[in-house]
Amino acid sequence: MLILGIDTSCDDTSASVVEDGAKIISNIVSSQDDIHRKYGGVVPELASRRHIELIWPVVHEAMHAAGAKFKDISAIAVTNGPGLIGSLLIGVGFAKAIAYVHKIPLVAVNHLEGHIQAVFLEARPGFPFIALVVSGGHTSIYRVDDIGIYKEIGRTLDDAAGEAYDKVAKLLGFSYPGGPAIDRIAAKGDAEAINFPRAYLKGSHDFSFSGIKTAVLNYVRKNPDNKKEDIAAGFQSAVIEVLVDKVSDTAKKENIGRIVLYGGVSANSALRKLMKKRASDDGIELFLPSTHLCTDNAAMIAAAGFHHYTKGILADYSLNPSAYMPLGSADG
Ligand code: KG4
Ligand code: ZN
Repeated sequence: MLILGIDTSCDDTSASVVEDGAKIISNIVSSQDDIHRKYGGVVPELASRRHIELIWPVVHEAMHAAGAKFKDISAIAVTNGPGLIGSLLIGVGFAKAIAYVHKIPLVAVNHLEGHIQAVFLEARPGFPFIALVVSGGHTSIYRVDDIGIYKEIGRTLDDAAGEAYDKVAKLLGFSYPGGPAIDRIAAKGDAEAINFPRAYLKGSHDFSFSGIKTAVLNYVRKNPDNKKEDIAAGFQSAVIEVLVDKVSDTAKKENIGRIVLYGGVSANSALRKLMKKRASDDGIELFLPSTHLCTDNAAMIAAAGFHHYTKGILADYSLNPSAYMPLGSADG
């Protein structure tokens, strides 16, 4: 059964054809980094305009690469939130139009559920597992008891970890997205040279990353001649230690022996290394999906959409996107 997935939640236009929720037939991601780079971050209006230009060519390419025709597609799965509202509108509007014209069932997918489903495109972790979604827009810990059964255990109260990476990178003179640049130069620095604060929010599974960004800013102002490598390394270890401590702490408290890491920041080499060490020390089974499945892509949306479709959870033409759409939280 083929599902066409579409994701336009942020600054990447993506379409994918996935078979039976697990096998990627095609997965096209058109990055907009070139457009947003000079502004140091995503400009929502520019992102949605670019989605309008790219959506049809990207969907066409995904269908062509899969060798599929619309009559072969069982359902169209589209991200309807959370994300940038102008960007989401393009994907949802386009998916509705295709669904209507070709009489294909439509399925709505929460982008965060998509991230969590990404692991099933490569592996088969048993349930339950702990999921850490750590990207430019989100930093949350979930308990996943089954497909479709998610409980948010902690989340950032302010900035996402990737946002902190991007802001600190900008401060150090690197272009957007800054995470990979910090990752690269931190490897050449001394992580213990500067001790930036770690926001543990004692007794809570929540995160806070706005303080560290301010701490780096103040440090850079007071020490303009300091080595960028050491600043990057000090910042990075403060962020990744909190992420690893909190996710492994959650696994222990919930008595769960499996952890899966997702989102753009999970591509970070130091985070992967530290998490691998902690998992092996704690006897935890760790799943690290490939980078191209950790970052935004439509294959994960098609994978999640497959399960909605097989359960008969369909959307209709009144489907609208929503910028705020928490997954499995008390207020969701
Ligand atoms: O998941 P993603 O592609 O998009 C969403 O935000 O949903 O994540 C993008 C974020 C950016 O903030 C980027 O700087 C960060 O992931 N990132 C990294 C690395 N690669 C991407 N952060 C740290 N180290 C990396 N290697
Ligand atoms: Zn995402």
